[in-house]
Amino acid sequence: MKKSTIAPLAVLAGLLLMTAGAQADEPVTGTSPEDVQAVLKASFEPKGIAKLDRLEQSPMQKACSQADLTGKPLSKEDAAMIAKEALASIKYPAEGQFLGDWKAGEKVAQNGRGLQFSDKEGAVNGGNCYACHQMTKAEISFGNIGPSLLHYGKQRGSSKEIMEYTWAKIYDSHAYAACSAMPRFGAAGILTEAQLKDVMALLFDPESPVNKDDVAQ
Ligand code: HEC
Repeated sequence: MKKSTIAPLAVLAGLLLMTAGAQADEPVTGTSPEDVQAVLKASFEPKGIAKLDRLEQSPMQKACSQADLTGKPLSKEDAAMIAKEALASIKYPAEGQFLGDWKAGEKVAQNGRGLQFSDKEGAVNGGNCYACHQMTKAEISFGNIGPSLLHYGKQRGSSKEIMEYTWAKIYDSHAYAACSAMPRFGAAGILTEAQLKDVMALLFDPESPVNKDDVAQ
């Protein structure tokens, strides 16, 4: 395993499953969260801005990792509690101003830099949305861990409710899916409020390529 890049816990849990010789979708008995922490701590060393405090899990991360490892989903109560806490912590933009500039939003969505050991302290982060979502017709290189967001604004409209839901989803994805795999762009300080607005404009602006069918931009 390559040292000093901090891979998501899910990937490491996947590696453990493989070394245990099990099918990836079968829960492995006998692998405790402590075992995983020990492997992580032995595998990484701090480099640049990536320090080992990243291995310390919040209660939410602990609960979700435990569910992943044991294959036992969170109880309804725990899932509801995590989502409720996430929703309560969301900071909405002042005066209902949800939308920035979609062109800047497209750059944020395309940019996968940020929080890596090779990034400088205080450098501007990207959202890397295309790594998990289809968004425009023009960009054909995208991941599918998340649902397609093509025609997002066109399909959902721009009511206050849908704007608030979308802002909250991007700010802290756990507000609507307790163990979401989507980064908490606002809550974890990955994107600034202005960048969040730009990404929102990418999703909602009628002029945004997200809401168009032609490939030219
Ligand atoms: C690591 C993968 C990943 C990245 C990166 C990611 N997302 Fe997601 N996203 C998901 C997943 C998975 C879902 C489905 C719901 C869930 O599990 O949270 C989702 C759901 C969403 C939804 C809700 C869709 C719906 O139908 O209600 C929106 C909006 C969204 N993402 C926007 C974004 C934006 C904007 C970015 C970039 C700033 C982004 N996502 C980056 C994985 C990701």
